[in-house]
Amino acid sequence: MIIAIDGPTASGKGTLSKRIAAHFDLPHLDTGLLYRAVGRQIILNGGDPDSPEDALAAVAFPDDLLDEPVLRNEATGSLASRASVHPAVRKALFDRQRAFAKQDGGAVLDGRDIGTVIAPDADVKLFITASVASRAQRRFKEMQERNVSISLAEIEADLARRDARDTGRKDAPLLAANDAYVIDTSELGIEEAFAAALEAIAAAQKS
Ligand code: DC
Repeated sequence: MIIAIDGPTASGKGTLSKRIAAHFDLPHLDTGLLYRAVGRQIILNGGDPDSPEDALAAVAFPDDLLDEPVLRNEATGSLASRASVHPAVRKALFDRQRAFAKQDGGAVLDGRDIGTVIAPDADVKLFITASVASRAQRRFKEMQERNVSISLAEIEADLARRDARDTGRKDAPLLAANDAYVIDTSELGIEEAFAAALEAIAAAQKS
């Protein structure tokens, strides 16, 4: 079974994807991490994330970069968003993601274009979303727990910028597939969101 999970930043899709993968005993790929590694490698190369050439050169990042904690921070997320606009970067990362999706036994992948581009043939498609205000609030709490000094207003502005870039780009924009189950987690805790996801998966399997 292939489960495709898409949605904007801080919608809860990462946590949900891990839970769903563990529940069904399926391997999981966080595809955002690949774009984050590209963003980080651009900086390590002394390049510019808005340059298609510099971004493409960074696709050859070493795999151990994926384990670096710096990949998880907001600045790398923004770099990833800028690097992911370039069609050549998306094309270069396509085969790796597609091969993961097509492995024997199935897989869970989460990102922005899994249900639309990487695995349009997925058995189940979920689109996890939430209001900017609730996503910013969650991210703010996370940052406070990690002792990162950033204001709620800065987080909200950054999320809105990333949403606009990820949704507005020409190639593989952030978009719910026509046949995706949309789950709005604005008012849901993780257990409720997980229950809603399991219900959607059961419904998709029946249809
Ligand atoms: O999910 P994330 O926040 O780790 O993703 C970081 C950026 O990478 C996101 O803002 C856009 C890009 N991305 C993408 O374009 N396509 C994907 N499948 C996953 C992430």
